Amino acid sequence: MANHPLVALTTFMIMVVFVAAVCFTGATARTYNVKSLGARADGKTDSTKAFMAAWNSACGSVNAATVYVPQGRYIVGGLMFNGPCKNGAIMVRIDGTLVAPSNYFVLGNSQFWLRFYGVQGVTILGGTLDAQGSGLWACKASKSKNCPAGATSLGIYNSNNVLVYGVTSLNSQLFHMVVAGCRNVRVVGANVVAPWNSPNTDGIHVQQSTGVTILNSKFSTGDDCVSIGSGSNNLWIEGVSCGPGHGISIGSLGNRLIEQGVRNVTVKRTTFKGTDNGLRIKAWAKPSNGFVDNILFQDAIMTNVKNPILIDQNYCPSRTNCPRQGSGVKITNVRYQNVRGISATKVAVRFDCSKINPCRGITMQDVNLTFKNKRSSSAASAYCVNAAGRSSGVMKPTSCL
Ligand SMILES: *[C@@H]1O[C@H](CO)[C@@H](O)[C@H](O)[C@H]1NC(C)=O
Ligand SMILES: *[C@@H]1O[C@H](CO)[C@@H](O)[C@H](O)[C@H]1NC(C)=O
Repeated sequence: MANHPLVALTTFMIMVVFVAAVCFTGATARTYNVKSLGARADGKTDSTKAFMAAWNSACGSVNAATVYVPQGRYIVGGLMFNGPCKNGAIMVRIDGTLVAPSNYFVLGNSQFWLRFYGVQGVTILGGTLDAQGSGLWACKASKSKNCPAGATSLGIYNSNNVLVYGVTSLNSQLFHMVVAGCRNVRVVGANVVAPWNSPNTDGIHVQQSTGVTILNSKFSTGDDCVSIGSGSNNLWIEGVSCGPGHGISIGSLGNRLIEQGVRNVTVKRTTFKGTDNGLRIKAWAKPSNGFVDNILFQDAIMTNVKNPILIDQNYCPSRTNCPRQGSGVKITNVRYQNVRGISATKVAVRFDCSKINPCRGITMQDVNLTFKNKRSSSAASAYCVNAAGRSSGVMKPTSCL
């Protein structure tokens, strides 16, 4: 991965931006080492205050600044990295591991473990975030009524020009990462790991954001590897592997009547292994003004994926509030190019679109999916309801458009 030209280019760009920022301000970046500020790398002592002190100094600095976390394990509670800052070039360089308190009531319902809010020009470089989610998952599995919702490990909110580079996220309580209300956020070389049965541990959830890029990253988790919510525009996902997990999902959309749409999403060079879904678009069977337009899924390899290609506009879990309603979400211009591999169920391609807003402009080019699981192996099939479009090139299963 490190040798990939895009990664090399990005690394180079970080350096250029950082050096440029330092040169413009005419000063060397100040470094705030959490250890010098009282953090203990012993995996036992709460170091929250030292981390906040380092951030507050870096954010308050008029020159470029670095928060530095040396090797070792640091217990930290909720860290709110709030802007605006006095400079636009902050580096958070992590050589160590941040560990969430094992008592999940400490973060409880606080929504976030680490959150960047209202910042501009921040790079988070390296490190491991270990949220120790297993206690909370067990609580939820026991159906106890006293389990808190839990916290997303890393939230980037209302921020611009943020780079998250080479970060490992382990066992989040809730989502691993959320990008919301942002412009120009790049996540490169992320490594997300949680068990296949851990609840709501989505890899990255994006919403209300423009110009988010997710590059060369690996997701093994218990929910969607990447989930794309309303108001996502100009999203680029490339070089992502997913599995275990629930795939890359646009949606769920259309749960609300008034909702921003999803436009211009590119998902290319992806691999899916043993996932519930591959490339999925999902909308509630309810009235909504939402939409999905201009989506490209290109070069995907499926290995034992239950639903490699799926549009489901009849999402209505527990069959309450929406039985027999049509989805208001308009799905147009979705392209699938060079999708191949093995489906773990017979229906490898399923377009189950809205009866009041049929899917329009679906194009498929060079799709080659075969059906194989432990019990049988035969030709895969495709299923279309209220879906229109065209296909060309290799088409296995035979197109139903
Ligand atoms: C679509 O998004 C990409 C980035 O993902 C951007 O480069 C391109 O300009 C966008 N296209 C339009 C028409 O906005
Ligand atoms: C489709 O995939 C199968 C199995 O991977 C392969 O044997 C076959 O040659 C492919 N067909 C085409 C037309 O590419």
